[in-house]
Parts: sequence; structure tokens; C-alpha cells
Amino acid sequence: MSDYILENLEHYFKMYNKSVRSPKKFWSQIADENFTWCQKWDKVLEYDMQEAQFKWFLNAKVNITNNCLDRHLANSGDKTAIIFEPNDPKEEAQHITYNELYVRVSKMANVLKDQGIQKGDRVCIYLPMIPELAVSVLACARIGAIHSVVFAGFSATAVSSRINDSSCKMVITSDGSYRGSKAIDLKGIVDEALENSPSVEKVLVVQRTGTKVNMKEGRDIWLKPLLDAALANNVAQVMDAEDPLFILYTSGSTGKPKGMVHTTAGYMVQTAYSFKNVFNYQQNDVYWCTADIGWITGHSYILYGPLLNGATTIIFEGVPSYPDFSRFWQIIEKHKVNQFYTAPTAIRALAKESLDFIQPYSLESLKVIGSVGEPINEEAWHWYNTHVGGKRCPVVDTWWQTETGSIMISPISFVTPTKPTYASLPLPGIQPVLMDELKNEIQGNQVTGSLCIKFPWPSMARTIWGDHQRYKETYFTAFPGKYFTGDGALRDEVGYYRITGRVDDVIIVSGHNLGTAPIEDAINEHPAVAESAIVGFPHDIKGNALYGYVILKEVGEALNQGNLAKEINQLISDQIGPIAKLDKIQFVSGLPKTRSGKIMRRILRKIAEGDFSNFGDITTLLNPEIVEEIKNGKV
Ligand code: WTA
Repeated sequence: MSDYILENLEHYFKMYNKSVRSPKKFWSQIADENFTWCQKWDKVLEYDMQEAQFKWFLNAKVNITNNCLDRHLANSGDKTAIIFEPNDPKEEAQHITYNELYVRVSKMANVLKDQGIQKGDRVCIYLPMIPELAVSVLACARIGAIHSVVFAGFSATAVSSRINDSSCKMVITSDGSYRGSKAIDLKGIVDEALENSPSVEKVLVVQRTGTKVNMKEGRDIWLKPLLDAALANNVAQVMDAEDPLFILYTSGSTGKPKGMVHTTAGYMVQTAYSFKNVFNYQQNDVYWCTADIGWITGHSYILYGPLLNGATTIIFEGVPSYPDFSRFWQIIEKHKVNQFYTAPTAIRALAKESLDFIQPYSLESLKVIGSVGEPINEEAWHWYNTHVGGKRCPVVDTWWQTETGSIMISPISFVTPTKPTYASLPLPGIQPVLMDELKNEIQGNQVTGSLCIKFPWPSMARTIWGDHQRYKETYFTAFPGKYFTGDGALRDEVGYYRITGRVDDVIIVSGHNLGTAPIEDAINEHPAVAESAIVGFPHDIKGNALYGYVILKEVGEALNQGNLAKEINQLISDQIGPIAKLDKIQFVSGLPKTRSGKIMRRILRKIAEGDFSNFGDITTLLNPEIVEEIKNGKV
């Protein structure tokens, strides 16, 4: 029995126990047997949980794209690697074979080098979901440049701050992007961002929409002619196991976004292993993950995980509602999708629509359906299981994070059982624990606590770009000696985990992590605003929506609160992106604060939820009377 592929429940337990007993042996065997290395490691793991230092597969040499591309060419060169499904269903889908992908990545890698990009340089990729996005990511990895993909829904300010944080030398973007019936001027956003990003020397521009754009002399270059002229093969840069592969920004509960740094070998081994097992991918399957490559889900489970396993993976440019709400189901039927991986927010949005959108389509090809990004509620789970999976497909509710790199807790299709709303059991190699408020590990079952991981795993982020102290403080100090996830969880009577949600000031809106602090900072920039506080409240489709409490500098200025609210949302949109807009804004004269000046968000959350019971002891507040005012003014 190959230990890479989990065969049944007994095998799972055997491997799980082995991975806990001897993690180094477990991971080295997986790494040894299933990848192409330029040089093997001298040591599997070196770590220090206190200092947050982790090294896996020390001194091994490898290039992840050799493993994603080259090694498949001999036997599967003609197999489709990527199916590109454009935004407009009338535009023909593209099938890109492994041979073709190899050539496209090689050409792009040569272009990057010709344009002065070297190993270790940072390249910001700001592209829609088109094949060039995949090609650009892989080309960076090919030459050892560190890719920093920024989701193409972020605003110019957000793009600029991410570029500056890691001093990117280049941006790869397109003239525009299609999202449903809209076309977005991506190049214009980049131009605006670059007014404040002096590190960028070159901008490569993909033509997608054909809209007219400004090309800055000496900086901006159309990509196509460069690719046409480039050589079609490229020898991959030999990378050290611990060389950074990419930076991906994620929101923190305070301050600026955190550039999570992932390195090469550990990330490769674990994304490949988790993809193969969680989705039970078989040789001729067509796999589709609807995430955007701008998020970790797209990195690990549209690109790297599938390509490492020689899979066929779909890249979809559009949205579930365009031209109508049957688009996902049409695509599943059209490409005979076998594994489908999406987010609870999409499931809830689609479940709200008539079943007439789904019934005309055959979803018979599906074998496995997955969920990621936030807790999936019971109703959505059952709808997904019944109407999409036909009750025959395991629903894999996969819990993980940008920081973890790979799926950590999840059912394994056809191997471990599923349970509605439960991410269930940890993957082999992952050691979750629940912690109580006194920082003790909670033993036994039927318990709840803060979810931590007590042993390192290969695909964990190694640091925050430029700020190792913040990495250490955010993840390794709350529960000394353990990685703190920021999530709360419960463990049921048989040891299955259910993630209950964030326990910090990160709010998950439509599956996107949003920190309260950056949004509050944006609001506070409005000249009329003195102070603000953001909390989440439950929302039918988005899971959570944002509720803002805003104090104005002068009450007289509150004359036109409707306009002010619009201006505030515009500011948020400009600074962060439309995903961070507030659903509700309440103007208040004060915020409940502790004597040390800390905002009592717990009370604000309850009011936003419309739950006026049990505020707890508010007499210790600096200003207890404000609670009544806020309650009465709830919007
Ligand atoms: C949440 C996405 C419940 C969780 C891969 C986590 C989930 C955060 C699940 C990370 C799930 C993700 N059930 N909650 N299956 N998956 N989350 O970094 O709060 O965008 O900490 O990574 O999403 O979000 P991120």
C-alpha cells in the first residue's frame, strides 16, 4: 500500500498515528517517494516554537515547477493541465495541455529574466482569472522570483501598499478584466497605485479586454510580443527547500496586512499530498475550484496542488450569477467536472435562487464536493449535499488558512466520514489541540476552546515579510509553544472538530478575511469622523456583514448622514476595496470603553446582532450610559 494515498479508515488511522509518533519519518517518506528533487535533504526538520523558526527538508534542492510540469511531460504531455472557462459563455473554452503549459511558462520565465528579474526579486501579479495568471505565477517560481499575487478586486491604495511592503520590482497586469457584465479598468488601477510605489521598474501588460490604456514610456510593455519572441524552453532555477516561493497578504486584526511568506519544499509536499487525498483525485478527473488565484485557496488548490498531481484544473474567469445563476451548473455539465470546491457564501447565494437554475443540468459527473473559507451552516450543507452532490458525493468541509498553506482539518473523500458542519478530523501530520483561557490544553471530547496546532507542519508560513516579530507575536505568544489559529472550535464526542469562527478581530465576509483596524483607519480618514468601531453581524448570504459605529467630530455635521454614510463607504472602497464596505452605519456620540480605553466590541457585536440581553457587567465601563443610547439608535 502506498502511504501517499490514504486507502481507507484503517489506513488513515495508521498513518495518522505514525505521523504523530514520528512526524519526521512520516513527512520524509511522503517527500521522498512522490517528487523530483535536485538534491535530497540532510535533515527533515529544525524548529523552535518559541522563536517561531521553522525549517523543513534542510538543504534539499528543488524547483516546484519541475514537479508541476516537466516530470509530467513524458507520460502526460498531451493531457489537459488547465481548462480556461471565460467570463462570457459564448467565448470558447481553452484546453491547455501540460506540453503547452510547459512552453508558455518557459517563455514567460525567459521574458521575466530578459526584463531583469532575478531569483529573490518580488513580482506583484495583479491579473484577472485568465491563463496568463497561472503562467505568470509558475514563471516566477521557475526562475526563483517571489510572486505576490494581489486579488484583482483590491483598490489602488491596497495594491500600492502591498507592492511597497515587499518592494516589488515588477507588476504583471492586464488592460482590463471581465466580471459578469462589467469590465474593470485594471491597468488604470495599477497606474494609480504606481504613483506611490517607486520600487516598480517594469509593468508587463496582458491584453484581455482590448480597452485603451495608457502605456508609460520606459515602464509599461505589452506582454504578447515579448512572449512571441521568447525561447520555448527554460531550465528551472535550483531552489533551496527554504527559499521563499511566494508572499500572500492576509488581513490582521490590527495594522497593515501581513505578507505571509511561504517557502518551497514544505509547501510543495503538503499541498500535493492534501490535494490528492482530500479530493481523491483520479488520473482522468476534471477538478474545479471556484476560488480566485488571488487567495490562498487558488494558490494551493487551483494551481500548485492539482498541477503537482498532474491533474486537470479549471480556471473560471467569471462569477456564479452571470449570465444567470445557472453558470456553475452549466460549467460542471459542460466540462464533466468530477471534484467541485467552492465557498459557503456562494452556496448560500445559489441556494436562495430557484432550483430551476440547477435542475436542467446534469451534475452526474460529480464525485466529491468541497467547501472552504468559513463555517458552513447546517442549511447550506444540506442544500449542497442534496442538490449539488445528489447525496452521493462526500462533502469535504476543509478548514485551513493562508498561514497554514494547506488543508489541515477535513474529511478525506471515501476514507473518513463526513458530518454536517464539521471539518471533522485532522489530516495526517496535523496535531490540533483546544486550549482554555488559562492556556491549558483541554483533554477529552465534547469540549470547546481556542484552536491551536501543537507541532509544525511542512506548509506552514515561515514569517511575515519584513516583520518576524509580528509573526511571532501574532501566532506563537497567545499560547506559548503552540501555533494559535485565531479560531475557536469544538470537539464532539468522537473527536470531530467543528470550527465555530474567529475569536479575534478578524471578520469573515463572503469568505474574505477583513481586519477591523484597517477599515476603521479608512473611515477615520473622513474629515468629519472622530472615531469608529467595526463589528460583524450575521448575514444570510455573506455569512457576516459589517456594522460600523461612527462618532462625528461635530454633531452639526451629522446633518446629512445619508451622504456621509455614502462617502464613508466610498473611502473604504478606495482604500481597501468594495468587499470591505459597511452594510450598516450608525452614528453615535460615544463608544463603550473600558477604563483603559479599550472599545468593548462584545457589546457592540450584540447590539449589531439585535441581541439586547446579557451585556454582562457594564458598570465597569468608563461610560456605561452610552450603551442605552447605542441600543436605541440601532439601524
Ligand atoms: C475560516 C482560507 C470554518 C477560519 C483557506 C480561518 C473556515 C480563516 C473554514 C482563514 C472552514 C476557513 N470552516 N472556517 N472549513 N475554512 N475558515 O486565510 O476562520 O482566507 O481562520 O484561508 O477562514 O481564511 P484564509
